[in-house]
Amino acid sequence: MIVSVKEILNNAKQNGYAVGAFNTVNLETTRAIVEAAKEMRSPVIVQMTEKTMEYGGGRGMFHLVKNDAEFYSPEIPIGIHLDHGKSFEIIQRAVAIGFTSVMYDGSRKKYEDNLEITKKVVDFCHDKGVDVQAELGSVPYLGEIEMEDVDWGKYMTDPGQAEAFVKNTGVDALAVAIGNAHDFFKEKMAPDFDRLEMINKNVNIPLVLHGASDWENGRVTEAIQRGIACFNVDTATRLAFINNLINSVRNQGNVSFDVRKLLGEAREAVKDTVKRKMKFFGSDGKA
Ligand code: G3H
Ligand code: 13P
Ligand code: ZN
Repeated sequence: MIVSVKEILNNAKQNGYAVGAFNTVNLETTRAIVEAAKEMRSPVIVQMTEKTMEYGGGRGMFHLVKNDAEFYSPEIPIGIHLDHGKSFEIIQRAVAIGFTSVMYDGSRKKYEDNLEITKKVVDFCHDKGVDVQAELGSVPYLGEIEMEDVDWGKYMTDPGQAEAFVKNTGVDALAVAIGNAHDFFKEKMAPDFDRLEMINKNVNIPLVLHGASDWENGRVTEAIQRGIACFNVDTATRLAFINNLINSVRNQGNVSFDVRKLLGEAREAVKDTVKRKMKFFGSDGKA
């Protein structure tokens, strides 16, 4: 059952758990996420980036997720979200397609520009009943980050700025940088939980932690206690998919020409990963 992302996030925050926002890239990842949600009785967010919209076709990918959610998990709350929309134009396109939740990511821009465009996005989206997530500070990718002696200070979300940003833009959720990074990054510094606590006190909306593929156990619990209502996961499911495919091909004396068999097994590997994450986030049994 498709429901609003805002409702999923607010429920999670109010009830002391978090949900996973899992990136899909194709039919197999979509079905894996939707079936995991059903088997775990877990609310979930299925999201895609601009690159995935280019790859699969925005309209086609959106309707693939919508159809899968409605047909395969009709009783489970599922939200569909645009992840890391980098321009006003892509937001407009996503809304025209039917997305009811978008992220505008102006985190690489100057604070004033991020604020101005985020505000414009919020005005446009709220008028149409669409929820908006923004990012303040920046959650780096492997290619952007120093491999040694990382200067984490330059990426971090400023709690004072966060307060003003949320008040002035009216965003529904905020992605924060507290020492988290996209991709599997060697060992991150201990997350700055004091900073997260301050951000949470200053803004009364659900907080989102991007780069959560390598977040498990105690860190997850500590983050939820300080306002994180959503963990974004992409790298972990991509790896599950690819590793499974590589192993299948390597281990078969005669490589199967039935693509469905290979991809079907990879889908199951992604599903296992999603289910494991849902348990860490505490969203299992909440639907
Ligand atoms: O943060 C988002 C993704 O992990 C990057 O995904 O390769 O689809 O842009 P992308
Ligand atoms: P990972 O690269 O850690 O999976 O993060 C994904 C993400 O933040 C998507 O927005
Ligand atoms: Zn992200």
